[in-house]
Parts: sequence; structure tokens; C-alpha cells
Amino acid sequence: MKRILITGAGGQIGSWLVPRLRELYGTANVLATDVRHLGAEVTEAGPFQVLDATDQKAVGQAVMRHEADTVYHLAAILSAIGEKDPRLAWHVNMASLEAVLEVAREQGCAVFTPSSIGAFGPNTPKDPTPQDTLMRPTTMYGITKVCGELLCNYYYTRYGVDTRGVRFPGLISHGAPPGGGTTDWAVDIFYQAVESGTYTCFLGPDAQLDMMYMPDAVDALVKIMEADPDRLVHRNAFNITAMQLTPEGLAAEIRKHIPDFEIGYEVDPVRQRIADSWPDRIDDSAAREEWGWQPKFDASAMTADMLHHLSLSS
Ligand code: NAD
Ligand code: SER
Repeated sequence: MKRILITGAGGQIGSWLVPRLRELYGTANVLATDVRHLGAEVTEAGPFQVLDATDQKAVGQAVMRHEADTVYHLAAILSAIGEKDPRLAWHVNMASLEAVLEVAREQGCAVFTPSSIGAFGPNTPKDPTPQDTLMRPTTMYGITKVCGELLCNYYYTRYGVDTRGVRFPGLISHGAPPGGGTTDWAVDIFYQAVESGTYTCFLGPDAQLDMMYMPDAVDALVKIMEADPDRLVHRNAFNITAMQLTPEGLAAEIRKHIPDFEIGYEVDPVRQRIADSWPDRIDDSAAREEWGWQPKFDASAMTADMLHHLSLSS
């Protein structure tokens, strides 16, 4: 049975991943950690510890005390917040990854680290974006993701640390809100559709980006860490996607359920520039071939499920 430590467990992904891993591997085997105190639904449901992932000594002690053999490293600053405070993004994203990798090297842990479509830049082929291609991102977030991928591969080839990762697209979920990214609109739109029937989008109507529903993202997180290492040609990190959405296209999907739903636009130039520098559609065939990646939710199934859950909770 795996013994797992999760950093950044209180975020959009962690709030889904923690219960799933506890279900699979046993509550006592999964230690959730975050730099913030979290609510009772996390802290009372299983082991929890406040942990700054940039503090290598504290990470080492937590891994040792929990006898962890696997770290899911989710702590990070996302793209839009990263452009507001680039030094914070560099510090948190790089110092925490270095700390986790060093501890993993010393204590023999496997490490999952998410990369992102943000690792690509304006010169990358946009449709489709190959697995192995030009990566010259123009955001600090993207720079930390490319450096992170290279550092994870370095720890694998140089020290034999079992590092694996995926390049997530924008993730759509209900529950914990998104953490300040460029793809947050694709979550906000659902909350506003249910609450007020109208949404003002910070990206323009045709801004197309890869997206994925959180249940598929959590499946990917489990599946890649369970994958047979002999089948992995790539490691850090695999392109994965489930659907391509524009604000206008998602609004049309929502109108199938809420016919009067209206969308308007007040474009934020910073986030629009970030979106314009990212792919329109990534090619995830390497993930499909090497570890059987296969999403379950397309735009239509995801929209129906999101609206169902949000209507129940409103
Ligand atoms: P999030 O912003 O929702 O959550 C990040 C969590 O990290 C927060 O709970 C925050 O308190 C915590 N944190 C921040 N600084 C910390 C520190 N120093 N030590 C410990 N914890 C700290 O982010 P998320 O959406 O859950 O993303 C998790 C990872 O997945 C990130 O690496 C992100 O880049 C990546 N990713 C996310 C998306 C997405 O759409 N959500 C897409 C691609 C990649
Ligand atoms: N959803 C993330 C962001 O917009 C993509 O990595 O920052």
C-alpha cells in the first residue's frame, strides 16, 4: 500500500485528489498538507499538517514521520497571479519543487509534479501542439513549468528518482474555487450561470483553450503514478487534454440547459495575452500510448454534470 504526502492539498486539484487517494489507499496512508490552515472537511477527515513546501527541512521531516513513499506536489502559484507577482511565482514554484525533489532523492520517494499548457509559448505550433516541441513560454508561470519539467527529468536520469508529470489543460470543477489562473473563466461561468443567468468573461469570445473536467484529471493523477515504468518513454511531462473550449462555445452548451443564459465580454488584456500564447489543441497521443490515458467527459457531459451539481448545492 502506498504512503502518500500531498503538498498544496487545499487547492482546486487537492480538494478532489485527497478524498480519492484516501478511498484508494486508505485514509491513514494519505497525509494532506498546505501552507494554509484548511477547513474541518479536510483536517478532520484524515491526517493533515500545515507545511510550507518551500521549507526543505520541514518537508523532509514530514516525509520521514509519515514514512511517505510518494509525493504529489501540488503547491504552486498559477498563471494570472504569477503575472501580478512574478518573483513570488518563481520562488514558490521553484523552491518548493527543489525541496520536494531533494527530499525524494534522500528518502527514496516517487514524485508527481503537474506541468501545464502554460509551459508552451507563442512560437509553439498551436493546433495540434506535439508532445515534443518548441517551448518558449512568455509568463513566469510557464517559465517555472518548463524549468520544473527539466528539473524533474534531471532527478530521474541523474539520481533515479521516479518523477512523473502531466501538462494539465484548464481544469473545471465544482467545490474549491480555482486558484488564480487564466482558465478560471471556464469554472466561474457555471457558478454565474446558476446564480444569475449571466456571465461577463475576461477572455474574448473565440479564445480557444484545452480543458478537462476534474474527475478525469484525478483519474490521470492516479493512473500515471500506477503506470508500468517500462512503458514510459516520456516522464515530465505528458500532454493530456479532454476538450477544446471557447467562451462562446461553452455558453452555447450551457444554453442547452439554461436557454436564457447570456454572456458578455470585458476583456482583460493580461489574461487574453496569456491565453493567446497557449495552444489551441494539444496532441495527447503519447499519454494514450504509454499509460492508457483516456478521458471520460467531453464538453456536453461535463456541462450537464457541472450544472447538475451546482443546481443541487444552490
Ligand atoms: P490552487 O492555486 O488551487 O492550489 C494551490 C495550493 O497550494 C493552495 O491551497 C495554496 O494554499 C497552496 N500553496 C501555495 N503556496 C504554498 C507553499 N509555499 N507551501 C505549501 N502550499 C502552498 O492550484 P491547483 O489548481 O490545485 O493546481 C495545483 C497544481 O496543478 C499547480 O502546480 C498548477 O500549476 C497545476 N495546474 C493546475 C491547473 C488548473 O487548471 N487548476 C492546470 C494546469 C496545471
Ligand atoms: N489553469 C492554469 C492557469 O490558468 C493552467 O495551468 O494558470
